[in-house]
Amino acid sequence: MMQQSRPSSRGHLLSLLALQLLFALTIAYQTLSDDFLRNLTLAESDFDIHNQEGLLAPILIPRVPGTPGQAKTQQHFVNFFRKELPDWTLLWQNSTGTTPVTGSRQIPFSNLIVRKEPPWTKPGQANYLTLVAHYDSKFKPDNFIGAIDSAVPCAILMHIARFVDKYMKQMHEEMVALGELGGTVPMDMGLQILLLDGEEAFGSSWTSTDSLYGSRALAEEWEHTMNPALSSYRDPLSQISLFVLLDLLGSANPRIPSYFLPTHWAYKNMASVEDRMRKLDLLETKTKRPFLYEAGKVPDQFNPSFVGDDHEPFMKRGVPILHLIPSSFPDVWHTLQDDGEHLDMPTVRDWCKIVTAFTLEWLDMMEIVPEPEQS
Ligand SMILES: *[C@@H]1O[C@H](CO)[C@@H](O)[C@H](O)[C@H]1NC(C)=O
Ligand SMILES: *[C@@H]1O[C@H](CO)[C@@H](O)[C@H](O)[C@H]1NC(C)=O
Ligand SMILES: [Zn+2]
Repeated sequence: MMQQSRPSSRGHLLSLLALQLLFALTIAYQTLSDDFLRNLTLAESDFDIHNQEGLLAPILIPRVPGTPGQAKTQQHFVNFFRKELPDWTLLWQNSTGTTPVTGSRQIPFSNLIVRKEPPWTKPGQANYLTLVAHYDSKFKPDNFIGAIDSAVPCAILMHIARFVDKYMKQMHEEMVALGELGGTVPMDMGLQILLLDGEEAFGSSWTSTDSLYGSRALAEEWEHTMNPALSSYRDPLSQISLFVLLDLLGSANPRIPSYFLPTHWAYKNMASVEDRMRKLDLLETKTKRPFLYEAGKVPDQFNPSFVGDDHEPFMKRGVPILHLIPSSFPDVWHTLQDDGEHLDMPTVRDWCKIVTAFTLEWLDMMEIVPEPEQS
C-alpha cells in the first residue's frame, strides 16, 4: 500500500539535510496540521440551492440520460472546469444502450473524466486518487431531482478540484524547481474525478443489466486500454490508487460503515480527519456519533455484504474501493422529497470539508507548508 512508507524528498526537507533525509525514508505521510485544517473553508454560496452561479443549484434538475437535463448538467461541468481549471484534462467516455423501458432507442451515457497530474509524468506514469459520483437522475418518478443522489456529491467534487488545484500547482512548481522529476509512487500522485452517467436503473427494479450503464462501460473500456510500453501502469484501471465513491450524501445524521477490510486503513484516515475537525470545532454538525463511525472495526467484523453501486465494475477488476454511502439510506431516498429543500446544509458543508481534507492529506500537502522555525 502506497502510504506505508513514503520516501519524501521535497522542499523544506532538503534544506535540513542528512539527518532529516534519514528520517524521511521511514516517515509515513504527514497528517495535515491544525492550521491547515482551519484553512479549509468553503463559500456557502456555492452550495446555495437557489444560486445558479454556484456549484450545486444548476445540478438540481432532472438529469435522465437522453433528456435535455442531462445535456445541461454536462454543460455546467464543462463550463466550470474550462473556466476555473483550464489546465486540467477533460475527457469523455461515451456509450449507448437500450433500457427495459425505453424500447429500441439508443440512450446516450457520457462519463466525464477530469484529471491533473504532475507535469513531468508521461502517459501511464501517474497514479490517481480517484473521487467518484454519478450525475444522472432516476427515470421515474417524473420530476425526480436526486439532490443527495448524487447532485451534492458532484458539487462537492467540483469544489475539491478547485480547492486543491492551487496547492497541487505550488507543490509541482517546488518540485520542478528542485529538479525532482518524479519516478516514485508518492511523487507521481495525481487527482482524478469521475462524474459518471447512467447509474440508476430505468425500470422499477435494479438489475445487473439495468443499472450502472456508465461505470460498466468505463471499467470495461479501461480494462482494454493499454498504456504505452514500459509505463509504470499497464492500463488506466491500475493507475487508480484508491476509488472513493460518494453517494447519497446530504441528509442529516449519516452513518457511513467501513465496508471493505482492504481499504479500512483509508477509511480510518478519513475518520481521523473528521474526528480532528470536530475537536477543533471546524464542523457545523454537532453530532454525538461521527459520520464515519466505524474506525474501530476489527477484521472479524467485516462481512461480504456491500451496497451495489458504481464501484462494482471497478472492484471486480481489482481496484481498491472506499465507499462513502450511508447505511441505512436516508428517508428521502428515491422519492420526490430528495430535492434541494430537503438537504441538511450543515451536513453538506461538513462533508465537503472532510473529503477535501482527506484529499489534501492523501496528496501529502504538508510538504509545501514551511516548517516552523526551530530554536
Ligand atoms: C493558513 O492560512 C493563513 C492565512 O492565509 C496562512 O498564512 C497560512 O500559511 C495557512 N496555513 C496553512 C498550513 O496552509
Ligand atoms: C461524448 O459526449 C459528450 C457529452 O454529451 C459530448 O460533448 C462529446 O462530444 C461526445 N464525444 C464523442 C466523441 O462523441
Ligand atoms: Zn439512486
